[in-house]
Amino acid sequence: MRIKDIIIAFDGYSSCGKSTLAKQIANFFDFIYIDSGAMYRAVTLFAMQNNLIVNSDIDIEKLRNALNNIQIKFIYNQNLKKQETFLNGQNVENEIRNISVSDKVSYISEIDFVREKLVDLQQKMGPKKRIVMDGRDIGTVVFPSAELKIFMTASSDVRAKRRYDELIAKGDNVSFEEVKENIEKRDYIDENREISPLKKADDAIVLDNSILTREEQFDFVKGLIANKFSL
Ligand code: DC
Repeated sequence: MRIKDIIIAFDGYSSCGKSTLAKQIANFFDFIYIDSGAMYRAVTLFAMQNNLIVNSDIDIEKLRNALNNIQIKFIYNQNLKKQETFLNGQNVENEIRNISVSDKVSYISEIDFVREKLVDLQQKMGPKKRIVMDGRDIGTVVFPSAELKIFMTASSDVRAKRRYDELIAKGDNVSFEEVKENIEKRDYIDENREISPLKKADDAIVLDNSILTREEQFDFVKGLIANKFSL
């Protein structure tokens, strides 16, 4: 099979570097990268901005009605050389990564009608192939027949340290414990929710990057692709 006819799915735990690796692979093979987590984060931010979620209490009916008015787009920023997330025309790329959004996103992503809507949008991006999508249910639900599926994991200490360093570098005022607790809470909710829980697809290849550098994991996946598909 030719590489240009494939979809690549990256699933796995929070903060294990899925998006970094997925973007590297997409750049290298000239694929489109789609961050499905950003879509759940954008809906969460919308709910927060409109007081539809307070603590973990969600105004389900209002959110259901509002969902059709939520427009999520990805636009490539030529200057920063990266894709940015837009919510109803506003660039929310930075805001959706804040810990306040991370804290609430698992509650929003448990809701059946939110998942239905976002999975539908994600599937509509698929037919042309040549996409790399990362998330929790890409290989199991969104694209169960994706030609290559990678399931990523790493210890929660390693993941929390990476995320903590990223947030501190951005200027956020967070503690390591807070970040680790958030990651473990999201893992628990993601793995135990009723609809599309985080789990490895039977045909996914596991990549534990606890002790791998970015270059090593990139070389590993590049090698897999080169072995399996022709250019
Ligand atoms: O990849 P991320 O950490 O930015 O994702 C944010 C949250 O969205 C994550 O805690 C779980 C949820 N999510 C999901 O349920 N399904 C996806 N395909 C992607 C993300």
